[in-house]
Amino acid sequence: MHRAGLVVWNVLNELKQMVRPGLTTMDFENYAERRVKEQGARPAFKGYRGYPCVLCTSVNGEVVHGIPSPKRRIEQGDILSLDFGAELEGYYGDAAVTVPVGTISPELERLLRVTRESLDKAIEQARPGNRLTDISHAVQSWVESHGYSVVRELVGHGIGTRMHEDLQLPNYGEPGRGPRLREGMTLAIEPMVNAGGPAIRILDDEWTAVTADGSYSAHFEHTVAITADGPWILTRPREIQGPSW
Ligand code: MF3
Ligand code: CO
Repeated sequence: MHRAGLVVWNVLNELKQMVRPGLTTMDFENYAERRVKEQGARPAFKGYRGYPCVLCTSVNGEVVHGIPSPKRRIEQGDILSLDFGAELEGYYGDAAVTVPVGTISPELERLLRVTRESLDKAIEQARPGNRLTDISHAVQSWVESHGYSVVRELVGHGIGTRMHEDLQLPNYGEPGRGPRLREGMTLAIEPMVNAGGPAIRILDDEWTAVTADGSYSAHFEHTVAITADGPWILTRPREIQGPSW
């Protein structure tokens, strides 16, 4: 899983560095498709329940599952979520990051920071002996204490030899509920945070989730293993420590 995760991290990092005003979301799709194949891995999203692309690109008020398009040009001041998954030798990695396009407003900088921090807080709870909703609660309390809201309809998930495995991981809830976390469990932790209200709707393309009130939304994700030594972020190199993204 770590090897699959490193492919995901490599691709997302390269995509992050490409980001600039004037590119279309399809430019990122094309790059990701080429790079995942060069690394001998298979893109995990394309064909999954009929999803048409290897990448999800969600801009501004799009929460997740934005479909890349040659018509969607990103502009200075936008925020862009890049979500990518790969399978290598039967094992999966899944991660996402939201990045500024050029210079963004201080309000948007804060939304990105608080969402990334909510992922940091969540990962910190991914330890043997804790319960599943300790992770959920860590996200919700951090996000809501900063005046933002957590999306309810979409959740994190178990991951391993399939992209989506049994455990569903809400980004809200009371602590101390749900299954006990054990060594060897692997989870995709993925807070989705709206600057306005929590409600979302799905566009007519049947994929793109957008905020119901048109507010901005951010999304960060990592695949994490629960180990006796604490959380191990599988979707980045071991030598990188500190904040999740
Ligand atoms: N990171 C998303 C998830 O965990 C990506 C899924 S997009 C899909 O659900 F097309 F593959 F469904
Ligand atoms: Co995921």
